[in-house]
Amino acid sequence: MEITNKFTELPESIQKLLQHINLDVLVSNPTFTPISGEQSRGLLFEIDNSSLVIKWFTQKARADNDIEALLDLAEIEYIPKLYSYEKRSYLVMEKASGSAVSLLLDHGQLSEVELKEIKKQYLHAVHLCYAAGRFDWDFKLDHIFWDRSRNRIMLIDFGEYSCVSEAITTSDIEERSFEFDEDVKEILLSSK
Ligand SMILES: Nc1ncnc2c1ncn2[C@@H]1O[C@H](COP(=O)(O)OP(=O)(O)OP(=O)(O)O)[C@@H](O)[C@H]1O
Ligand SMILES: [Mg+2]
Repeated sequence: MEITNKFTELPESIQKLLQHINLDVLVSNPTFTPISGEQSRGLLFEIDNSSLVIKWFTQKARADNDIEALLDLAEIEYIPKLYSYEKRSYLVMEKASGSAVSLLLDHGQLSEVELKEIKKQYLHAVHLCYAAGRFDWDFKLDHIFWDRSRNRIMLIDFGEYSCVSEAITTSDIEERSFEFDEDVKEILLSSK
């Protein structure tokens, strides 16, 4: 198991628990609760009484992209903290609080003011990630979580975050802004 400098901030009992992760343990120990994502490529588990989730990789070829992206983006406020991992196997990260923007929209639970704030923070996050050398090719409102009580988004799923070396352009941001609006419209129309 590899650990990051955030790992030592975890309670000792959790640190101990994380030292023996394998799929049998995740499936059989009731401390781990599966999060059922639709058509998930990874197997996601919540750890009881902690704000942590484990992503167990099922598609080995793409597995390490999540880990490498989280390491590159570690200092960004909109990115879950990475605590520990084993390459080609799993990672343990901060659980995003709140709910997916797609779900909130579908249930009619977002005001226009909130949506504007979410988009502003999202485009800021795109800037910061790009500056840290990563760009997400798999834009989805499912991958933006919104915590109303903290007035904060958090991004999840870094499987498609590719390395970039050049500076971000205005048209990259405009494209992201457009995609965001289009996805919002699509959900609002289908939920009517
Ligand atoms: N850090 C996190 N905090 C809270 N929930 C998370 C977190 N990471 C993942 N999840 C939940 O687990 C689901 C699947 O995770 P993720 O998108 O990373 O995996 P995936 O293998 O790409 O699955 P999919 O193909 O469904 O997108 C997410 O849609 C989300 O509901
Ligand atoms: Mg995903």
